[in-house]
Order: sequence, then C-alpha cells, then structure tokens
Amino acid sequence: MSEHFDVHGGARLVGEVEVVGAKNSVLKLMAAALLAEGTTTVTNCPQILDVPLMADVLRSVGCDVVIDGDTAHITTPSELSHRADSAAMGKLRASVCVLGPLVGRLKKAVVALPGGDAIGSRPLDMHQNGLRKLGATSTIEHGCVVAEADGLHGAQIWLDFPSVGATENILMAAVLAEGTTVIDNAAREPEIVDICTMLVEMGAKIEGAGTSTLTVEGVESLHPTEHRVIGDRIVGATWAFAAAMTRGDLTVTGVNPHHLELVLEKLRLAGADVTTFDGKGFRIVQPERPRSVDFVTLPYPGFATDLQPFAVALSTVSEGTSMITENVYEARFRFIEEMVRLGADARTDGHHAVVRGVEKLSSAPVWASDIRAGAGLVLAGLCADGVTEIWDVFHIDRGYPHFVENLNRLGARIDRVATEPERS
Ligand code: EPZ
Repeated sequence: MSEHFDVHGGARLVGEVEVVGAKNSVLKLMAAALLAEGTTTVTNCPQILDVPLMADVLRSVGCDVVIDGDTAHITTPSELSHRADSAAMGKLRASVCVLGPLVGRLKKAVVALPGGDAIGSRPLDMHQNGLRKLGATSTIEHGCVVAEADGLHGAQIWLDFPSVGATENILMAAVLAEGTTVIDNAAREPEIVDICTMLVEMGAKIEGAGTSTLTVEGVESLHPTEHRVIGDRIVGATWAFAAAMTRGDLTVTGVNPHHLELVLEKLRLAGADVTTFDGKGFRIVQPERPRSVDFVTLPYPGFATDLQPFAVALSTVSEGTSMITENVYEARFRFIEEMVRLGADARTDGHHAVVRGVEKLSSAPVWASDIRAGAGLVLAGLCADGVTEIWDVFHIDRGYPHFVENLNRLGARIDRVATEPERS
C-alpha cells in the first residue's frame, strides 16, 4: 500500500509555523557521537524517518541509541565495530558520515556505500582523498568504502569543490589525528558550523568554522556533550517560498534568518515584504502575484541546490520569465517534467532551466522523485486548479516533519490517502 497526497488548489497560507532541527545537521551530529565514549545527547531533532535510520546505523557499530521525542541519547561504547554495512546504510546519504569518526577512532572502517536521493552522481573521491592525506588507505570493495591507517597525521588538504560531506568526514577524522590539519576550500554551510561547534564542545580544537579554511589541531580523545541542532534553513526557506507562491502571510520561527539572507533577498525581488527577527525567524507577506527572478545554485553562501525546486515552482506562477541555473547536481532538473504536467511552461537546456510564468497551474497526478522536488510539487499543487495527486510522498516525509498537518493548519487542504497508484 502506498500513500499519496490530494492537494486542493487555491490555498492562501496564513499564520505561524515553527521549524525544528535541520535534517542535514542532526544526522552528522549523531555520527559525531561515535568520537567519544559515553552518552552524547542531541536535542531539537526533527521527527523524520532518517533519524531512526541513522540510529540503526549507529546501533550496527555497537552504540545504544534512545530517541525520546526530539532528543536522541547516543551511548558509544569503548569498543566499536569498524563495520558499518547494515541495510540502513543504503537508505540515506548521511550514513557515509560514520566513515570519518570510525577511521578517527579505530583507524579502520568498512562502510557501505550510502543511499540517498536520485539527483545526480554523488562520488566519494574527495572523502577518500582527504583520508589518504591523513595517512589512511582507501578503496571501494564489494560495495563498501574500506579505509585503514597505522596512525593518522595532520595534513594540508585542498578540496576540489566545497563538498559538505567530504568536509564533515575529513573533519571528524582529523580531530583525532596527530598534529595540525588544514582543510582549504572547505564547505561553509551553517550545518558545518553546527558540527564544528559540537566537536569543540566535545574537546576538539577547530578554527575557521564558517570560512573556507578549517584548521584542526588533533587531540588524544573527545568527551560526550549535549548539543541542540540548528533550525532547518531548507525547511524555513520552503515556508518562505510557500508564502510567496500562495500570496500568503507566514511567520516562520526556529530558524536563523542570517542563514537565509540570499533567499529572502530573492523573495523581496519577487515582491515579498520580509521582516527578520534576529536569530529567531522571519515574517513574509506576498501582497501580489510574484515577479520573475533568476536563481543560480552554488555552495553556501550561494543559493542552495536544495532550494532549486522551489525556485522553479515559484517561477511557474510568477509574472515574467526566470532562468534557473543548477551548478551542483546534473540530474536535479528531472522533476521539471512533473511541473510541466501541472501546466508549467518550462524547459531545460543542460544546467539551465527557463520558466515562463503562467497565471494558474492545472491539477494532474505527479510523482515526487526526491525530498525537495516532492515538496516543490506540493507547493505547485496549492497554486493549481483542482486536486493534484502527488505520489511517492515517502520522499517528502524524509525531510519535512508534520508537513501536511502544518500546511492544513495554515489554510491548505491536503489529504493523505493510502491506496495503490494507477499509472498509465
Ligand atoms: C549534502 O549532500 C546534503 N545532504 C544535500 O542535501 C545537499 O544537496 C548537498 O549537501 C549540497 O548542499 C546531506 O547533508 C545528507 P556534497 P552531500 O558533498 O554532502 C560532488 C537534501 O535534499 N562530490 O556537498 O552529499 C557531488 O557529486 C540533500 O537534503 C564529488 O564529486 O553533498 C556534488 O555534485 C540532497 N566528490 C557536489 O560535490 C565527492 O567526494 C556537492 O556534494 C563529494 C561530492
């Protein structure tokens, strides 16, 4: 039995919505708990499927994990297994983040290649090259990354691209390496700052968090901590786009608006009135039909690739023509064909999409291909005539806690329906 959403078009979203902890931070913070023997507590965890999946990954290497509401207690034993190859590994991308901590603590790891969204090829070469610089060997064998070292030593590492996952894995190995590691062209995402903050709370020595150069002075061991996950900027931005698309009025709390400066500026250009509340959230009011705006995805502080589907969704109903350029994932425009089913006037050419806004979209059955594309289709469905059926909604559930409940509370009408789809 699969579930789909019936999204009734014509909603205007009004009210207040609270954003909880970031999916793309909490999963890495849970992996960081492997670095210290004892019980680490992570609070403000989102209630999404990936959190219990990550708990299973940690259990498979010997941790005891208790999830109590929005709090995860992870007890890491002195003896860990170096093999992380359980079935849970293949269900999420973030599972690969146990690689760095296992190599850091045990000097060896066998980690199953991760799963995740179908948005383009996602190699691990930068993760492996970074570990090699620290003194480990690394190969891919039988579907696993295998890494081994006699000892880890500090190194100068230049990343070809500011990869979030590679920065995290190298960082988590380097905190326990002997000597100083410098990671240049490191990722600068707020989630990187969050993990650096937690590692420092655990006793790591890291400088430069939030800049392109991270300097890590290795320490002998780390100790457990209690850490609150930062608010999910991607979910916060999703609500901002939802307000803009439905000509709504939303107050979004639990997220730092400094993490969304470029996004909110783009929405101002589209005609929204945006007020920010320092460190706490923002209010966005869209009085009229949005105007077209161009978007270019880039690593932070650029416009996040995870928000590209919302940029496309907004453009489909804006006045004028928008060009959206995707620079991070080669297959992240696939969902546009679903937008076209909804009456969007959109075409792609390589890593550019041109979208001519239409007055109204028109309901149709559509399929979610990943978390963000799925949420983008929900927002498009809110702007369509009639009832849009959205299938494969398990993708959306992976990233958006209580999404349908929140949307309905804010003025949408969405029914979650359990049936089998009829594909033509
Ligand atoms: C994280 O993935 C996020 N996932 C993604 O969010 C997000 O899209 C991405 O960062 C970019 O912001 C998690 O945090 C779990 P990368 P990650 O390494 O770390 C290439 C969502 O919707 N690359 O920064 O895997 C890679 O192919 C998800 O929540 C290499 O070539 O992303 C991509 O083109 C989807 N070799 C680019 O770098 C490597 O060794 C950025 O990837 C590593 C990456």
